[in-house]
Amino acid sequence: MIGKKHLQFHEIDSTNTYIKQNYKNMESGTIVQANHQTKGYGRMNRIWHDEIGKNLMFSLYLKVPLNEDITMLTQMAASSVYKTLKDNGINAYIKWPNDVLIGSKKVCGILLESIIDKEEAHIIIGIGLNVNNKLFQKEINTTATSMHLETGITFTKENVLITLITHLNNDFISYINHSHEYIDLVRENSYLIGKEVELQDQQKAHVVDIDSKGRLVVKIDNKLKTFIGSEVSLTNVYQNKE
Ligand code: BTN
Repeated sequence: MIGKKHLQFHEIDSTNTYIKQNYKNMESGTIVQANHQTKGYGRMNRIWHDEIGKNLMFSLYLKVPLNEDITMLTQMAASSVYKTLKDNGINAYIKWPNDVLIGSKKVCGILLESIIDKEEAHIIIGIGLNVNNKLFQKEINTTATSMHLETGITFTKENVLITLITHLNNDFISYINHSHEYIDLVRENSYLIGKEVELQDQQKAHVVDIDSKGRLVVKIDNKLKTFIGSEVSLTNVYQNKE
C-alpha cells in the first residue's frame, strides 16, 4: 500500500537519491518526503530548486514485476497529480511525459528512475509539486507556477499529500490490473495533442495522440512515429490549444 511507510526529512540531498541508496531495505509503497533538498534534480539532470517548506517533494518506491511496462508509471503519477489539483479546484494539463501545467506554466515535475535486477524492477517516482511557492529562480520565473500563485490560497501541504497518495493508490491498482484508465485521463487533458513540437534533433513534429501504452504519437513528414519518454526531449512547443 502506497504511503503506509512514510519517511520525512527536514533536509536531504535528494529523496530520489535516498531511495536509490536504500531501496534494498525498503518496502514497496514507501514514501520519502523532504522539506528541503540540497541536490534535488529533474529530467536531463536539471537542478530542481525549492523554496524551503513551500513545495511538496517526495519520492515513491515501488517494486514492479519485470514483465510490466514501467514507462507507463510516469503517466500514472501524472494522472494522480492532475486529480489532486482538480480536487483542490485547479484545472491542469498534462504535458507528456512528465510535467503538469496550469495554463502553460509548470506546477509539477515527475522523475521516474529504475533499477532492474534479475527478479524485479525497482522504481523510484520523484514528484515535485509547487504548492505554496511565491518565488522562482530567474531562469524559470516566467515558466513555473504554484497552486498558491494560481489561486491565492495557501494550501496545507499535508492535505495535498494525503489526496495525492489516495489517487496514487487507486491509479497504481489500475496499472497493476492493466486497466490503464489513467491513460484516457492523460490523453483527454493533454497539453501537447494537436500542437507542433520541436524534438531535440530540431525536427518538427505534429502531436497526434498518446497511445494506450502511454507513448507519444507524432507525425513527421506525414509518417507516424511513437516515442517513449526517455527517447525524446521536446525543445519547443508551438500553437495554442484550440
Ligand atoms: C522534472 O521536472 O524534470 C522532474 C522534477 C522532479 C523533482 C522531484 S522533487 C522530489 C524528487 N527528488 C528529486 O531530486 N527529484 C524529484
